[in-house]
Amino acid sequence: MAHLDDLIATDIHAYLNAQENKSFLRFITCGSVDDGKSTLIGRLLYDSKLIYEDQLATIEKDSKKSGTQGDKIDLALLVDGLAAEREQGITIDVAYRFFSTDKRKFIVADTPGHVQYTRNMATGASTADVAVLLIDARYGVQEQTRRHAFIVSLLGVKNVVVAINKMDLNGFDQSVYNAIEVEFREFAKDLGFTDITCIPMSALDGDNVTSKSDKSAWYKGPSLLSYLENVEIDAVALEAPFRLPVQWVNRPNLDFRGFSGTIASGVIHTGDEIIVIPSGKRSTVKDIVTYDGTRENAREDMAVTLTLTDEIDISRGDIICRTDSPAEQADQFQAHILWMSENVLYPGRQYLLKTGNKTVPASVSNLKHRIDINDFSEASAKTLNLNEVGVTTLSLSAPIAFDSYNQNRNTGSFILIDRQTHETVGVGMLDFALRRAKNVVWQDLDVNKNIRAQQKNQKPALLWFTGLSGSGKSTIANLVEKRLLDLGRHTYTLDGDNVRHGLNRDLGFTKADRIENIRRIGEVAKLMVDAGLITMASFISPYRAERQMARGLLADGEFIEIFINTPLDVAESRDVKGLYAKARAGEIKNFTGIDSEYQAPKNPEIEIKTTEISADIAAERIVNYLQENGFLSGHEDE
Ligand code: ADX
Repeated sequence: MAHLDDLIATDIHAYLNAQENKSFLRFITCGSVDDGKSTLIGRLLYDSKLIYEDQLATIEKDSKKSGTQGDKIDLALLVDGLAAEREQGITIDVAYRFFSTDKRKFIVADTPGHVQYTRNMATGASTADVAVLLIDARYGVQEQTRRHAFIVSLLGVKNVVVAINKMDLNGFDQSVYNAIEVEFREFAKDLGFTDITCIPMSALDGDNVTSKSDKSAWYKGPSLLSYLENVEIDAVALEAPFRLPVQWVNRPNLDFRGFSGTIASGVIHTGDEIIVIPSGKRSTVKDIVTYDGTRENAREDMAVTLTLTDEIDISRGDIICRTDSPAEQADQFQAHILWMSENVLYPGRQYLLKTGNKTVPASVSNLKHRIDINDFSEASAKTLNLNEVGVTTLSLSAPIAFDSYNQNRNTGSFILIDRQTHETVGVGMLDFALRRAKNVVWQDLDVNKNIRAQQKNQKPALLWFTGLSGSGKSTIANLVEKRLLDLGRHTYTLDGDNVRHGLNRDLGFTKADRIENIRRIGEVAKLMVDAGLITMASFISPYRAERQMARGLLADGEFIEIFINTPLDVAESRDVKGLYAKARAGEIKNFTGIDSEYQAPKNPEIEIKTTEISADIAAERIVNYLQENGFLSGHEDE
């Protein structure tokens, strides 16, 4: 068969036409280098003539040098060479390789296969039409195979190829192949794949990769390439409702205002009526502007700027929809989360949730269960570890526009970002909105914080004392409260030992419990401040993330972080409650400073070094701070 490229010389128009009209297939390969993944991708590129001659010459030379494959070319060298280069960079974790045959154009997402690289795999799978799962025929279905299959199914991949590789090592023994196929199909039967195709293969020798091999006469199915060229992919994305997540508002001058972004799904025409979610504002599309000029319509994946017939407010992160099929909006969801960080997920901890162009603070308010990837059973769990999948209730601090993931992979997915490290720690899929009853909104009462504070002739604040056990937090907080009382102020003190007798009686000292402890206290303290009180909170509160969360609950300036800085050896030598001795003796576990960490504040409003000043002077300094910052001089704003 003549390669399409031959047309370049004879009929360039026919060539260009054929290229233009070829369909596109995105697929992902999952498996480890040991399973033969690199060799397989190298083989596909090689046989479809996509390796440049100079690259080929290098590989031939290196193959001889490394001698891993005798006289054969080691195609893995091509891919691994690129991979090594890639691993030096920190940002690009997924390499997208492009190749084409006469029938189709392909983008293959090549992701590192080690278990800790699940995050890269998830990134590649989220746009894939097909997943090729590699299995080493010698070992059969492994835990990693199950994990990969589960993740690609979660991410909505419907077509799966099980490439049973290294069949040359067993002489293409059909019984080995059959056993693996049966095991895989049984395991995957509830994963919602519409098609599973198993192919016996030797990526190394090229058997059943780009053409059928005569070594497996018993195998009646297609070669891998033929499968990829012919597999039918439903054009769901185009039929999906129109969604344009707005990336920026384009306003070069007063006469032009456009809303730019890449169309996440569907089609839009000039004259279509649109609605903006979450604002609900409506208008009509005037023009669709692209890099190549204006057009009548545009569809998925195209970068466009829309202008509208009305002046309406639209911001980055909003989603423009057609009025006949608007996206939903909500701030509470059931969601699946795949956790991708060594730092485990803690319910109650605040992360940043990013979906489309919108980022909002969010936390898991309930971890319903973890899913065991071996049998999909549900196990109760307090946290999620690296590579684990959980079903959760998510609470966002503001509503977002969304679709459920099974309706739209773009507008139904999100990532979670750690607020301290800015690392992506999870990916998730929105299952459905948990509708809050519409009437349970924050009540705007006639008597509000300002009025309560005015009556008390003070400006409410939250004095947050943090430090090791025995550092002197409570002693100083008590002195501050006494002085404020003497000054006729209205106060309250929340204290670790006391709160743990009541409200937080159910919590211990694991990391998860401490996070929940501080979350609840943050919320209670916020109510106290709302009551107009100068509130003191005295808790070890060892983690920056939760102190930041508590700060975020209050208005600017209301949260005053006071670091009671007492070195561990000093706190330990005081040992007022005798707890350090017990912790050293191993009788108390997870003791802060001994076998549980304390993250000192970086920029506290006030730092007290108890080895340098007395508790009385410390209290005086804190009261002075309140005085100097207008907390005690009546409420001046209103
Ligand atoms: S926090 O870490 O969750 O903020 P919190 O301030 O509420 O701790 O409680 C700390 C008090 O609990 C300590 O002052 C100490 O009296 C007591 N305690 C009991 N076990 C521990 C422990 N393992 N680590 C720290 N404090 C403990």
